[in-house]
Amino acid sequence: MEFNIALLKGDGIGPEIVDSAVAVLEKAAEKFGHKFNFTSYLIGGCAIDATGKPLPQETVDGCLASDSVLLGAVGGPKWDDQPGENRPEKALLGIREALGLYTNLRPAKLYPALRNASPLKDGIVGDGFDLMIVRELTGGIYFGDRGYRQGKYGEEAFDTEAYSVTEIERIGRVAFDSAMKRSKKLCSIDKANVLESSRLWRKTMHRLAEEYPQVEYSDMFVDNAAMQLVRNPRQFDVIVTSNMFGDILSDEASQITGSIGMLASASMGETTRGMYEPIHGSAPDIAGQNKANPIATILSGAMMLRYSFGLSDEADAIEKAVDNVLNAGYRTADLMGSSEGSPLTCTEMTQKISEAL
Ligand code: IPM
Ligand code: MG
Repeated sequence: MEFNIALLKGDGIGPEIVDSAVAVLEKAAEKFGHKFNFTSYLIGGCAIDATGKPLPQETVDGCLASDSVLLGAVGGPKWDDQPGENRPEKALLGIREALGLYTNLRPAKLYPALRNASPLKDGIVGDGFDLMIVRELTGGIYFGDRGYRQGKYGEEAFDTEAYSVTEIERIGRVAFDSAMKRSKKLCSIDKANVLESSRLWRKTMHRLAEEYPQVEYSDMFVDNAAMQLVRNPRQFDVIVTSNMFGDILSDEASQITGSIGMLASASMGETTRGMYEPIHGSAPDIAGQNKANPIATILSGAMMLRYSFGLSDEADAIEKAVDNVLNAGYRTADLMGSSEGSPLTCTEMTQKISEAL
């Protein structure tokens, strides 16, 4: 089969890790007899440098015309002084919104081979954990009214958390459907003891739960959830939560797997066109040094094959190749203790995974 893939390499380590994922996707295409056409577009800081805007219209049009999008990371100290509307991060929100990607799937599982990289004790990790965080991606405080005004103490800035029943229902359905395909367990995370928007969230989830009697449903407050994730991550399977809580909890979930360099994500809407990206950022401190761990982006490529193109054997093969390379003991710097010998570079790790494939 033939697919057109838009590449948004972005800033920092973005170009290195996207090139790695492309190499592995090319290998998969060769092995399984497909053709992937890649076209690169600018996003983030590099787009500001070239065009003055973090999200040029050409990028949006290119993504809309493609079958799927693979993104690296955006942002860096160079653009930290840009006004809010022109920050690289704003481009990420803009492209998510333009493509209607309201669902963000962030799987977090512990690889047995990386057991030692997890900061959690054996008694907590047991035989491992495997979570799926379903994060709402185009609503809530990221997209609510914001601005400056005069308040009780003079000038103040504000951001607004707002959720409609429609937005809660559509992300809720994705989460319940995902729970039905996994272990039929769903925990919805909110702050309904304080926030009105969370009370509507909870009420709507409860109504949906009645439609899915086979799913063992529970609610949890976000502060407790942050604690439970490190106290007993094995109690969770699918988690559904708002944009901001999902942002925070997915970083926490990634760290207990050992490295943020391992976690892939898929952003989806109503069509099969998705955007796939590692959950980590642009890591300006190691950019251009060939040190980055490409696995999160390679696994994002696998998610693209599975969710957007329906190529699950191909996705399985990439995931298996990553497993094999990790089981054989190969590690990038982020996955190693200081005493464990010399790490693989980004390109060496990519090479190993391509060979395993
Ligand atoms: C993420 C990132 C982004 C977010 C930033 C860079 C805008 O942290 O994808 O988790 O907050 O969504
Ligand atoms: Mg984040």
